[in-house]
Amino acid sequence: MELGSRAYTVHIGHGVRSLLPEVVARLGANRAVVVTARPPEQTPDPGVPSLMISASDGEQYKNLATVARLCSRFVEFGLTRADVIISCGGGTTTDTVGLAASLHHRGTPVVHLPTTLLAQVDASVGGKTAVNLPEGKNLVGAYWQPAAVLCDLDLLATLPERELRNGLGEIARCHFIGAPDLDRLPLLDQVAASVALKARVVAADERDSGLRHILNYGHTLGHALERATGFAVRHGEGVAIGTVFAGRLARALGRIGPARVAEHHDVVAGYGLPTELVAGVSDAELVALMRRDKKSTGGLTFVLDGPTGVGLVTDVAEEVVTATLAGMPRATR
Ligand code: GLY
Repeated sequence: MELGSRAYTVHIGHGVRSLLPEVVARLGANRAVVVTARPPEQTPDPGVPSLMISASDGEQYKNLATVARLCSRFVEFGLTRADVIISCGGGTTTDTVGLAASLHHRGTPVVHLPTTLLAQVDASVGGKTAVNLPEGKNLVGAYWQPAAVLCDLDLLATLPERELRNGLGEIARCHFIGAPDLDRLPLLDQVAASVALKARVVAADERDSGLRHILNYGHTLGHALERATGFAVRHGEGVAIGTVFAGRLARALGRIGPARVAEHHDVVAGYGLPTELVAGVSDAELVALMRRDKKSTGGLTFVLDGPTGVGLVTDVAEEVVTATLAGMPRATR
């Protein structure tokens, strides 16, 4: 990740969690706090005196109360800014620990060991940290780049099928935002290519003022589907359906041709991901939720493909969005 004085390495491979002591030594940290949502045998020793804190993955724990509890434990342990905090878990854990690290003594180095595919290809890389408020997801956060990220593919071996699919949604959408065709590649290469793409985008627009929006391809409808179903639709599944929808909406706005629309469907289906709208959610509710998307400054806003590439499209007419939703294939249950 090329970010000047805040540049860092994302190590990707089988067994790379064993690099942790080396990474910690290179940072010059004397002590570490390891916050882990994984069992001890999957949580590497940092190689310096450390405090281990057990955590749990899950949106219900991703809140300011958890951040406050973590910060208190860091203080009790006497952790200084010259030490290091290590997160080991899924995206909700890397997000929460990353925010706590950004706040402890106004910023303490953090190393992420993402243990889900979703966290490896997206959440742990790029420095966005946040927690939820009762009013909505990710509403309180900070940009706090990690000092290193270790994406150990061995940790994915025991993930349930559905959790893997959750990450594949983010890999699939890379096809439309500048990645080569990743579909038939080994998982290691898919992760490496997705992270490389994200690193290029973040290096060019760390603070989300333009280009970084493209990482949210398929996310406007995806987030709405997650929320409308009380998160029964997982993030990656929502992004998959949202990607198919983004192709159709771009077509309805005259931005792309039918072959590219079909490509959206085929790429998503090629990963075994859902392409149909889920049953039991009204289009009106989805439109209302999409209006509250973080990219929006008022009107309906989407990241869409077009003749000059992918870009943010604002103030899309509601009738076009509604008609495109109505034309989507729909699961019956
Ligand atoms: N997950 C989107 C971003 O990091 O900007």
